[in-house]
Amino acid sequence: MLTKNSYVLPTYARADVAFVSGDNATLMDSNGKDYIDFTSGIGVVSIGHGDNILAHTIAEQAKKIIHTSNLYYIEQQEWAAKKIVEASGYEMKCFFGNSGAEANEGAIKIARKYGEVDGEAKRYKIITLKHSFHGRTITTVKATGQESMHNYFGPFPDGFVYADGIDDIEGLVDDHTVAVMIELIQGEGGVQPVDKAKVQTLAAFLKSKDILLIVDEVQTGVYRTGEFLASNLYEIEPDIVTLAKGLGGGVPVGVVMTTKKDVLSAGDHGSTFGGNYLSSTAVMTVVDYLKNYKESGELDEIIIAFSAKLDAVQKAHSDLFSEAVGFGLMRGLRVKDAETLTKIIDASRDAGVMVLKAGRNTLRFLPPLTITKTEMNEGFKRLEKAISSL
Ligand SMILES: Cc1ncc(COP(=O)(O)O)c(C=O)c1O
Repeated sequence: MLTKNSYVLPTYARADVAFVSGDNATLMDSNGKDYIDFTSGIGVVSIGHGDNILAHTIAEQAKKIIHTSNLYYIEQQEWAAKKIVEASGYEMKCFFGNSGAEANEGAIKIARKYGEVDGEAKRYKIITLKHSFHGRTITTVKATGQESMHNYFGPFPDGFVYADGIDDIEGLVDDHTVAVMIELIQGEGGVQPVDKAKVQTLAAFLKSKDILLIVDEVQTGVYRTGEFLASNLYEIEPDIVTLAKGLGGGVPVGVVMTTKKDVLSAGDHGSTFGGNYLSSTAVMTVVDYLKNYKESGELDEIIIAFSAKLDAVQKAHSDLFSEAVGFGLMRGLRVKDAETLTKIIDASRDAGVMVLKAGRNTLRFLPPLTITKTEMNEGFKRLEKAISSL
């Protein structure tokens, strides 16, 4: 076996485990040990590991054609966009890229072009939240409000303004403001839902000022919160929505969708890989699959069961966990301190269940949406074992 980081840059503090196969929410490592996966590759493997239908559709597509570039018509991309737009319930069109950061870059470009008058940047400022996370490119790092993300890499693009919380956004609006970009449940910021009534009030205010509302649904999108979009759950009508993570079930894809269908024209934006045959086929399969899964009631059923389990863990260990947070299968337990959180994550891995950290003090759960009750029960049994070993 090659030694870790012999050829790969050391940008991740990786755990000492390598997975070799998976079946739904169960992973197998290189030593033959199995784990219940409460992470789904950070919210990506939405329909589980090793799904036969997804494997079959992308393999069949790959045998025919994987990629042609966006210089030619790609019917699968059109189908993928139709399925996404219909599932969202909004009157929008899509642009396909390859990641969450890239989707957000697209959103920022659409907003900035929307703010131009006769080619001049009249309105260009975008307000984001201090505890947000919007990606790792130079622009999305700057869009991210967390100060710690602004070390090195400067100079950054101008035009981002940070609000402490949703209540402070209105006061920061000026004549140059073109958009507000928020996550409805901050993921990396610590599984922190934003208040629904406040978001609705903000959305109405922005509409009255012709300021665009961009909702970053890279993590919350594609049924993660129980609805196709968290925006559906919050009953708002954003101008721009971004998606990535769960959309391709593990095949890299990012989407920016907008009601402002005519802002970008040919040549304004592009991506070599974006929406190629392979990723579009994955999107079609995943969206169809999850739509049926939601309509059958199974998604809601597992969400209820998962919530009950999480609440029970919180109550049984209220000395460790102050509260259970989040929606759908984007959940967290607030841990009293960061050191205990690290210990729980390490002990969980030893006990055979994978969990995540979010923010400073949140134990995060992002299982595949298709996790079975048996896998879920086993995962919580192992978590209990990990907690009692502390
Ligand atoms: C809300 C949000 N936006 C953007 C991103 C960046 O996505 P990617 O890593 O695919 O670029 C993430 C990733 O965690 C995210 O959670």
